[in-house]
Amino acid sequence: MVLKRFQLFPLFLLFFSCQTGSENTKEISQQTPAEQGASLYTMHCAQCHGEDGKLGSSGAKDLSISKLSDQKIRQLITNGKGAMPPMKALLETDTNIQLVLSHIKALRK
Ligand code: HEC
Repeated sequence: MVLKRFQLFPLFLLFFSCQTGSENTKEISQQTPAEQGASLYTMHCAQCHGEDGKLGSSGAKDLSISKLSDQKIRQLITNGKGAMPPMKALLETDTNIQLVLSHIKALRK
């Protein structure tokens, strides 16, 4: 009985090691900050705002002509507004919010 349990244990470890450390996280950590911001934007924002910020899907504002301050953008990402859902949980960290913030400011003309 005891032996059987031990034989299963490595299988559990294998299972959990596959679950943690998703591909995306690994790829992102090897990029420069600008690339990280762009990747996060592509993953979480581009479906509504478009790669260039101009798509305007589901009423999303054109980010290339946005004049919001950093403070306002941060609030908007954290809390959402109208049809835009709060994005803080998806972005996970303040560092990631800052990276996306820098990226969308770079989309401005
Ligand atoms: C589900 C679609 C959707 C996603 C995903 C989305 N947004 Fe939005 N976004 C919107 C909509 C809709 C608005 C307009 C909100 C309003 O003013 O009513 C908006 C507005 C904004 C604005 C305000 C622009 C302005 O000048 O008023 C910013 C900045 C912004 N989004 C950034 C982001 C960022 C950064 C992400 C990714 C982390 C993101 N959005 C993801 C739909 C989305």
